[in-house]
Amino acid sequence: MKRFDFDKIIDRSGSGAIKSDAVEKVFGKSGLTPMWVADMDFETPEFIVDALKKRLEHPVFGYTAEPEDFRPAIIDWIKDHHNWKIEKEWISYIPGIVKGIGMAINALLKKGDKVIIQPPVYHPFRLVPQKNGYEVVFNTLKQLADGSYEMDFENLVAVCDSHCKMLILSNPHNPAGIVWSKETLARLADFCYEKGIIVISDEIHCDMALFGNKHIPFASVSDKAADCSITFGAPSKTFNIAGIVCSYSIVPNEELRNRFYGWLEANELGSAPMFSPIATIAAFRKGEEWRKQMLSYIEGNIKFVESFCQERIRQVKPLRPQASFLIWLDCRGLGLNHDDLVSLFIDKAGLALNDGEMFNPGGEGFMRLNIGTPRKVVEEALVKLEKAIKG
Ligand SMILES: Cc1ncc(COP(=O)(O)O)c(C=O)c1O
Repeated sequence: MKRFDFDKIIDRSGSGAIKSDAVEKVFGKSGLTPMWVADMDFETPEFIVDALKKRLEHPVFGYTAEPEDFRPAIIDWIKDHHNWKIEKEWISYIPGIVKGIGMAINALLKKGDKVIIQPPVYHPFRLVPQKNGYEVVFNTLKQLADGSYEMDFENLVAVCDSHCKMLILSNPHNPAGIVWSKETLARLADFCYEKGIIVISDEIHCDMALFGNKHIPFASVSDKAADCSITFGAPSKTFNIAGIVCSYSIVPNEELRNRFYGWLEANELGSAPMFSPIATIAAFRKGEEWRKQMLSYIEGNIKFVESFCQERIRQVKPLRPQASFLIWLDCRGLGLNHDDLVSLFIDKAGLALNDGEMFNPGGEGFMRLNIGTPRKVVEEALVKLEKAIKG
């Protein structure tokens, strides 16, 4: 069996990658090790590159219809990996998941409606509704003594009023890497269904469950969940093809589907550009072995970070992610305020990470470390952090 090489260090600078090329603009300093933007530094697998190259051999790049296997490839992948049976008509291409959130907001909400999010969470969940003129209501996650998180259903009841019409769910959860249980998702579905709240379940990290955890699609947990939700997914994180923009949406409820897809159609936003379905089909038809090897490498990186922190920088506590390549580092043991914590990473350690406050309430004192990179890079970064902490 072919072994894929995840140790290979690839210089992304000058490729236009935001992760490498926007460091100076965002962090105010050049030369930092980029461990922020959530894509990986691994080579996009060759079966995807080959599929794209094959299309490039044809010299005409005119308007293109959706390939026949686009929807079946998504249907088969989701059935095989997440045991959720979906229908062809439920699917639409969408031009990115953050854009999908913006489109759903514009298509489905009206002035005065509010959107619930559960921070600390991926920052566009707050920014997109707010920038579209909608109030965001926080139902902050509860952190338990062992560092793990749970949804706060009592607070949800308290903060939810009759204007709350949408809840954006990160499933699995970014930044804390939580794989939500069936019980939690079903309870959330009951609540939202009863209140007439549409759940946008962002499942972009769903194919990267780790350490024996199992992702559960929100819409699959009950009829109520299927009825009140829109699911967004993509091969973009798992196969490191975010720049190709190949996301999709799944809406089982016909009435909701007609409203959302009608709006997409009216604005011609549901038709895929040429390369997106090609990459999606290649990933979902040929990607299983690569995915498994990549996840095993990521688990190795996580264990490496855990041992390093345990042995050499005990003030920094990594929360083991149940999915994906982002580690939520609890840095509260360093006893620093926000500015000093950020300065420690940037100015003293020379590292570019997302700081916890970016993810809204509950993120204070945390940093998000992207370990989707060769182990050597992770090791060098931690050594720099150790030196910075120990002065
Ligand atoms: C939870 C979550 N949703 C969406 C995205 C971005 O998706 P897209 O590039 O399709 O907008 C990210 C990227 O980090 C993410 O972590």
